[in-house]
Amino acid sequence: MCGIVGVLGSHEAAPILVEALKRLEYRGYDSAGIATVNDGALGRRRAVGKLVNLSDLLVHEPLAGKSGIGHTRWATHGAPSVNNAHPHRAGPVAVVHNGIVENYRELRAELAEHGVDFVTDTDTETVALMTERYMSEGQSPIDAAFNTIDRLKGAFALAFLFDGQEDLIVAARKGSPLAIGHGDGEMFVGSDAIALAPLTDRITYLEEGDRAVLTRTSLEIRTEIGELANREIRQIQIDQTRADKGGHKHYMAKEIAEQPVVVAEAIRSYLPTGGDQVVLPGDDLDFTKLDRLTMVACGTAFYACLTAKYWFEQLAKMPVEVDIASEFRYREPPISDRTLALFVSQSGETADTLAALRYCEGKADKIVSVVNVAESSIARESDMALPIHAGVEIGVASTKAFTCQLSVLLMLALKAAADRGTLNDEEIADHAAALRGLPTVLNAALDQNDAIRQSAQRLSEARDVLFLGRGLMYPLAMEGALKLKEISYIHAEGYASGELKHGPIALIDKHMPVVVMAPRDAVFDKTVSNMQEVMARKGKVILVSDDDGIAEAEDGVWSTIRMPHVHTSLAPILYSVPAQLLAYHTAVAKGTDVDQPRNLAKSVTVE
Ligand code: F6R
Repeated sequence: MCGIVGVLGSHEAAPILVEALKRLEYRGYDSAGIATVNDGALGRRRAVGKLVNLSDLLVHEPLAGKSGIGHTRWATHGAPSVNNAHPHRAGPVAVVHNGIVENYRELRAELAEHGVDFVTDTDTETVALMTERYMSEGQSPIDAAFNTIDRLKGAFALAFLFDGQEDLIVAARKGSPLAIGHGDGEMFVGSDAIALAPLTDRITYLEEGDRAVLTRTSLEIRTEIGELANREIRQIQIDQTRADKGGHKHYMAKEIAEQPVVVAEAIRSYLPTGGDQVVLPGDDLDFTKLDRLTMVACGTAFYACLTAKYWFEQLAKMPVEVDIASEFRYREPPISDRTLALFVSQSGETADTLAALRYCEGKADKIVSVVNVAESSIARESDMALPIHAGVEIGVASTKAFTCQLSVLLMLALKAAADRGTLNDEEIADHAAALRGLPTVLNAALDQNDAIRQSAQRLSEARDVLFLGRGLMYPLAMEGALKLKEISYIHAEGYASGELKHGPIALIDKHMPVVVMAPRDAVFDKTVSNMQEVMARKGKVILVSDDDGIAEAEDGVWSTIRMPHVHTSLAPILYSVPAQLLAYHTAVAKGTDVDQPRNLAKSVTVE
C-alpha cells in the first residue's frame, strides 16, 4: 500500500509534496515523510501518524529545494515509527517505496556480508543500501538504481532521489501502479493521477517492469529487459472537488448522502432513457456464448459479488462462483473458455484482485471488470471495464461505491437474462422501472437518518453485534457487520439468519444486539422465525423492514428502522443505506476516526 510522489519542479517542493500526499493519504496514514535536494544536498523530514504531523514538523524544521520525493505509509515490515518511515536514506540516495520486496532477507544477508549496518526494520531500506553500495563501486546513480531494481523480487513502485542531482528522479513499477505527470519544464511522479491532479492532467502510466529516468524536460522509459519503451501521454480528467466535504462532518457522511445522485448516474449510463434494455459501453457481451460466471473481489466488493450471485442465478439462470481474491488463485480453479471472469474493485488497484485477474488471462472467454477508477490497473488489464460512476470515494469505508457496484451488477444480470431469454420483456421492463425509481427510494431511506442515529446510540454501547439476513439480505448482513467493525471497532458478524441455530445462537444473551435486515419478501416469515429465536433468548433486535414487515413483526423488538417499499431485487441496494448509517452514527457516538479508521487503507496494493 502506501502512496509515493516525486517532483522536479520550479517552485519549492515541500508544500507540493505534502499536498500530493494528502491526496494519497487514502493509501495509508501511519507515517509520512519527504526528502528534497537543495543546493546539491539531500535532506529529509519524517513523522509518525497522520500527515498533519509531518506538516507541523515542516513548520518548525522547513526543508528547502525544488526537487523531492514523498511517502505516506501503511506499515508492512516494521512498526509505524519515525525510523521506519520513508524516505529511506543510505548515503547519497533516498528511496520511497510502495509494495513489498519479498527477497529483502536475502539482500540484507548479502549486504551484511559487506559489513553494511541496518537502522530500520523495513524491506525498503535494503533498496537504498543496495543502491548506495553500487554507487560506492563507481556506478552512476541511474545504473546503480537500475541494477538494484534488477535484484528485487515482489511488488514495487519506487522513486529514487540522489545527493548532488537536482534534476533527476529514477522511478520503477512492478506490481504496484505508478504514473508520471508532464508539466511545463516540470516532471512529476505519483502512485496515481489523482495525486498529481492539481499539478498536471498529462499522464503517462508506467507498465509492468518499466523503469523511468525523469528530468524536468525529459522522460526516458525502459522495459524490464532494458529496451526503450514508448508509452503514450494521456489527457486525464480528474474530479477536482474531492477535498470538499460538502458541509458534512465526514467524507463518509457525504458519500452516503450522495448515493441517490451517483446511483442515478450509474443507472442512466447503462439504461438509456426510452428503452428497457441494458446497453454496455463499447464492445458488447453475448451471454448466450457463456456457461458460467466467476466473480472475484475483496471486502465490500466481494459482498457486492455475493449479492450479484443471487441475481445472476435467479434472473439469468447462470451458474456463478464467487471467490475472495486472496484465496482464488491458490486453489488453482479450472477456468473454461466459456467462462466470463468478472472482477469488482472500487480502486481498481487491489493487489489480490489484480493477481486473480492475471490468473484468468488466457483461460476465460473474457475478462470484465466493474471499477470506479477508469484509469486503474484492473480496468486497463480487462477486456472490458464497466465504470460504476460513483465519483471519487475518500472515506476508507466503502459506501457509495458499494451501491453503485450493486446497481451495475444488477443491470449486467438483466442483460444476461435478456440475452439468455430467461426473463420476458415485461419482467425486464418491470426491473428497469424499479431501477429508475431507485434514487427516489434511496432518498426516502436517507430521511430515516434520525431514527437510525437513535438505534446507533444503543449499538455504541455494545461489545458485539450480529447482523442477520436471508436470501438477498444475507450478503448485506455481512457488509453491515464489516462496516460496523471497521469504523466503530465493535466486533460484528453477519450471518444467514437460518444458520444462527447451527452455532452462533450460543452467543445470544441480553447484551447482544442483533440487526435483522428483512424486507417483507418471500423469505420474510422464515427470517422473522429466526428473529423470534433471538428474542426468546433475550437478544435485542433492531428490525430493519418496510411498513408491512414492521406492522407484522415489531412486537417485542428493541427498535425498528423503517424503509420504503421496494422491488424485491433492489432491496439489498436500498437496505445498504441503514447498514451504512448505523455504522456511521455508532462510530460518531464512539468518537472514532470515521474517515481514516485505524490500521486500514483505502487501496490495498499488497497481497
Ligand atoms: C470496506 C472496504 C474494503 C474494500 C476492499 C476492496 O469498507 O472498503 O473492504 O472493499 O479493500 O477494495 P477495492 O474495491 O478497491 O478492490
